[in-house]
Amino acid sequence: MLAQSVLVTGCSRGIGLEFVRQLVSCDKPPAVVIGTCRNPDKAEELQQLAKKYSNLKIIKFDVVDYASLPRVVEEVGRAVGRDSLRGNKAGHGQVPSPDGSAALSRQAFATSG
Ligand SMILES: NC(=O)c1ccc[n+]([C@@H]2O[C@H](COP(=O)([O-])OP(=O)(O)OC[C@H]3O[C@@H](n4cnc5c(N)ncnc54)[C@H](OP(=O)(O)O)[C@@H]3O)[C@@H](O)[C@H]2O)c1
Repeated sequence: MLAQSVLVTGCSRGIGLEFVRQLVSCDKPPAVVIGTCRNPDKAEELQQLAKKYSNLKIIKFDVVDYASLPRVVEEVGRAVGRDSLRGNKAGHGQVPSPDGSAALSRQAFATSG
């Protein structure tokens, strides 16, 4: 077993979704895989995986919504008791161009950092 529990952010699509797919379907999967995303209702592929693999729990989490952290921590605690490995894959695929706005740069670095 890789770990007792794994939490991956940004799992609606991209590398986060693929990371979750490979974790739940590997030979010795973690007891609990938590896939977080901003809009669970719209994360159809993640929902399909959760129907197939009972060790996958989905938790709503926007990584820059710091006010939501107490709720997220409580939900993670309920799911696993503790978080033994965190896979932080929420992010932006493109680095803002040098002439892009400072706000865009700050958002990209805050999400991916
Ligand atoms: N793909 C690769 O091969 C690769 C390799 C190395 C590093 N990376 C890095 O990994 C990160 C993700 O890449 P990707 O290719 O998977 O990009 P992607 O397909 O655009 O997916 C980005 C994911 O991050 C989520 N996300 C964005 N902002 C978020 C926030 N504030 N809170 C929670 N989730 C948020 C998106 O959720 P929504 O659906 O809600 O927008 C989506 O699930 C990027 O930083 C990228 O540079 C990717």
